[in-house]
Parts: sequence; C-alpha cells; structure tokens
Amino acid sequence: MQNSDELLLAAQAVLKDNDRGTYTQPAHNMYPHQWLWDSCFTAIGLRHLDVERAKMELQSLLRGQWHNGMLPNIIFRDDAQYRTDRNIWRSWLSPNAPDGVATTGITQPPMLAEAIVQIGAKMASPERRQWYRMMYQPLLDYHTWLYADRDPHNEGLVLQIHPWETGTDNTPPWMNELHEHQMSWWVQGVEKLHLSPLINLLRRDTKTVPSSQRFSAVEALAMFDAQRRLRRKAYDIDRILDHGLFAIEDVVFNSIFIRANKHLQHIADSLKEELPDDLKANMRRSERALEELWDPFAGQYYSRDFITHNLIKIPSLGTLLPLYSGAISKENAAQLVKLLESSHMFGTAFPVPSVPVDTPYFHRKQYWQGPSWVNMNWLIIDGLERYGYKDHADALRESTLEMVGRSGFHEYFDPIDGSPAGGANFSWTAALTIDLIRQQSS
Ligand code: GLC
Repeated sequence: MQNSDELLLAAQAVLKDNDRGTYTQPAHNMYPHQWLWDSCFTAIGLRHLDVERAKMELQSLLRGQWHNGMLPNIIFRDDAQYRTDRNIWRSWLSPNAPDGVATTGITQPPMLAEAIVQIGAKMASPERRQWYRMMYQPLLDYHTWLYADRDPHNEGLVLQIHPWETGTDNTPPWMNELHEHQMSWWVQGVEKLHLSPLINLLRRDTKTVPSSQRFSAVEALAMFDAQRRLRRKAYDIDRILDHGLFAIEDVVFNSIFIRANKHLQHIADSLKEELPDDLKANMRRSERALEELWDPFAGQYYSRDFITHNLIKIPSLGTLLPLYSGAISKENAAQLVKLLESSHMFGTAFPVPSVPVDTPYFHRKQYWQGPSWVNMNWLIIDGLERYGYKDHADALRESTLEMVGRSGFHEYFDPIDGSPAGGANFSWTAALTIDLIRQQSS
C-alpha cells in the first residue's frame, strides 16, 4: 500500500507516459487513440498538475467535432498503422464529419461540461471567463445536437444507438438487447460453429488482457456488426431509426447529460449569455423525464427502450447514476444509498461493482459486468456529496484509493478483493486518483 504522496507521483508518471502531446491516450497498445470521456476524466486530474495542459486536453477534442455539433467517442491517430481502425468507421461518408480528421460516427457520455467547469475552478475569474468563452460555443453546439438528433420526440431523454455510446460497453441491459434483437445470421453462425477462439486471435484487447476479462467473442462481433450497420446509414439518425437498430435511452448517459446541462447553464450565466429558449425547455423536460426511468416496485432506475418505451429491467450500476444527475427526489436518492450499502447489491469490500453481486449477471473480473471502475466511483462520490451523504462519499473515496494503492492504476478491479483487472496504467484511473487525493486534502 502506497501513501498519498507516492500514489500521486505514480499517477503523474502514468499520465506522462500516456501523454501524446495535445491529448492523453487511455492506455498503450489497447487504446492508442483519443477517447471523448476519457479525455474529460483525464483533464479533471491534469488540472491539478498543469492547468494549461488540462485545457489542451479538452481543446484537442474539438478538432473532432462534427459540423452538426456531435463530438465523436474516438478521434483516430493518422499514422499509417491505424488505417484499419479509420476504415472500419469511414467517418468521411457523412457530410457532417470534420475535414481532414478521421473519427467514429457515434458519441459517448457528455462529460465535457463537467471537465470545463472543474478546470475553471482552478482559475481566477477573468481567466476563467476567457476559458469559458473559448469552450462555450462548441459545448452549446454539442448539447443542441444531442437534443436535435437524439431526442426526436421531445421526450427529454436522449437515445443511444450503440453500446459503445454508453461508455459501459457490455453492461447487462445492453447485452440483453444485443442477444435478443441485434444478432445477425452470420454472427449466430459463428456462435453455432464455436469459432470464438479464432475471432479472439484477431482482437486487440485480448492480446493484452485475458479474454475472460472482456466481452465474449460473439458479443464483440455483434458489436462490430451493429457498427457496420450504422456506417451503412452514414450515421444518419433518421435512416438508423427507420431500420430498427439499437435505440435505448440509457440511464447513465442521461444522468450525465442532465448534470452537464446544469454546468452549461452555469457557464452561460458566467458569460452573461442567454441560452436559447428551446434548449432551456428541453433541459427542464430532461430533469422531469429522468423519473420516468424509476421503477417503484424494484426501487431502481433502468434504461428504456426508445421504441417500445419499456424499461429494460436488467440490473446494472446504471441505477445509481441518477444520484450524479442531481435531479431526483431526496426519497429516491435515499433508496439508492440503501442499494449502495446492501451487501447483496453494491456494498462489496471494494465498491462499486458494475453489476449487483447477488444477480446471475455478476462476474468479478469481466469488464462492465461486475468490476469496480474508478470513473463510476468518482461520479457516485460527487452525487453523494451533493445529496448530503458526506460520510458515504468519504468512505467510497477512501476505499477507491485503497484499491488503487494496492493494485495499481488498472482499468478496473475485482470488487470482492480489490485485485486488478483489464489493462494496466490506465489514464482515467490515474487522473481521478489524483483528483480524489486532492479532494481528501481540501
Ligand atoms: C472501453 C470503455 C470505454 C472507454 C474506452 C477507452 O471501451 O468501455 O468507456 O472510453 O475503453 O478507454
């Protein structure tokens, strides 16, 4: 177990090693490009080391912004060796794609506003206003796009079109939808013919991490198949929705979006800017709509199918993220805190497991199907603080730091014994560790 000073230095070294000049890659080998929410979490840690570098981390995301306002979940490196990654997506098929930069055609949870404000908190006000001024229009365009493209019926909840958009890739509710509705004949063929070992040979992630800690080969194929279908529609939401592809109002994504709207409002207020009326109406609607994801019988929040409007009642840590949104009632927040405390659910020795332990979906080391993730802990800690659960927030902060101190800056952790899993030297684990240590001393 390292003390805080040693942990800080070690975290700093990880960030330095993953630094690619203007942005930070999530990890060597497995994640060589720039990811949207990774850069936001990374910037939250970097601001304690070097505010200018933290600003650059976010500004570099803007080179990937689409003409319609979308921020893609990945901006690809332009080295020749990554041609295949760029070609899988072919973002240039869309007239909305930026010129001269290859990206994906989907987004990720909108953490940008939070990161902008966290960096702003490190500055004196004239400097902060300049920083906000620099980021305001791109942020406004992004939030406007989210409503225009992803809330076509003005429900207040935005829909996601691929598991990768949620950032919690193989979380059980989405995998359930994948198996029930999104398996094409050829992926089913691979499953029937037991070709998984062959597929694993072609994967980048299973070269460095045991395949038992990732999603299955069939799921990986089905994810790529779903991605190919989006590409065939040139990432045009009307064409995608016409063809019955994934369309889910994810509870993690929407909780983060609601909090991001609050930050956008704060940024606009600081600049004495008036947000457009229709955006303000959408923002108010979102806060109310989140409660539609609450299932009073289970006492949990769930994601919702955009087409059928049925809640997808498969357990995951998504149920806790409304705490971070800040938009739920005190009563519901108290119910969520009970789930966090329960040893059958999320109250493990090294919380917060990404799936409640007492369910058939729980696997200790399997990616988003059980392990604890530092970014999720960070969001839940922030939510607990704002709902007045200071002791719970302190305890979760402490156990998170203990887990990282014992096991290193891994991508995720076994929630039962805190042992490491996934990739090593992972940027957001390092960056958020720095932030959690600083929170402790402030
Ligand atoms: C994985 C994670 C995702 C993250 C990406 C890069 O796909 O599920 O949340 O952004 O890796 O670290």
